[in-house]
Amino acid sequence: MKKETMNIDPVQIEAAITEKTKVIAVVHYAGVACDMDAIMALAEKYQLWVVEDAAQALMSAYHQKPLGTIGHFGTISFHDTKNLQCGEGGALLINHKKSCRTCRNHPRKRYKSLAV
Ligand SMILES: Cc1ncc(COP(=O)(O)O)c(C=O)c1O
Repeated sequence: MKKETMNIDPVQIEAAITEKTKVIAVVHYAGVACDMDAIMALAEKYQLWVVEDAAQALMSAYHQKPLGTIGHFGTISFHDTKNLQCGEGGALLINHKKSCRTCRNHPRKRYKSLAV
């Protein structure tokens, strides 16, 4: 953990990567951004997916980019303890074209998608 942000430390992420690692999942705790430049560089270096837990980070940004839109996937919570609420809801942000098509064409068509 980085003392300044209380968020995950990219140096510790890299030390924990093994041949079995597939995903780097980061939490932007209390709306404070993780070090996304370093994290995305690690993802590129080791060919890993990045999932941002932006449940607490709606309206927060990193270099003018909304949190949850920098990694391949971002998650947002609309739980009633969050800034924007709908009881028990959430959103999955997809920042990867092929995965976006896969979700949109899912046969169950259970989820509403809003392509931007
Ligand atoms: C950082 C973080 N991730 C995930 C969750 C879970 O969100 P939800 O209750 O919408 O599944 C929360 C909710 O408290 C949270 O704060």
